[in-house]
Amino acid sequence: MTDKELLSIAREASRKAYVPYSKFAVGAALECRGGAVFTGCNVENAALGDTICAERTACVKAVSEGYREFVRIAIYAESQNYCMPCGSCRQFLSEFNKGDMEVLCSRADGRYVSYRLRELMPHTFNY
Ligand code: THU
Repeated sequence: MTDKELLSIAREASRKAYVPYSKFAVGAALECRGGAVFTGCNVENAALGDTICAERTACVKAVSEGYREFVRIAIYAESQNYCMPCGSCRQFLSEFNKGDMEVLCSRADGRYVSYRLRELMPHTFNY
């Protein structure tokens, strides 16, 4: 699958976002080894701190279906800025990946930037 195809799945996933508070819809598409793709969107809560980001939704869906080896994640938001994963999502993804996975961060005009997880989250917490 091409980067653009994965990004388009992330964009589609953002339509399902539950964002009554921020109105900022985010979608993620997480590709696992073997090609399975799990999508996610952000799911907000009136207790704002209980909100779950799109990336973590996708990650939890994958792990709960028995997939832990992540290859790439595409993130999309209808924004002028590239949608970067927040610190919590970087830490969360790093639980399952040593840092090789690609993180594609896109913006509304379709342009995207690509990083390795370890670039975005060096020296992760672990014990
Ligand atoms: N959000 C994500 O879904 N992913 C991120 O990496 C950053 C933030 C969501 C959480 C909240 O619903 C909205 O964006 C505004 O913070």
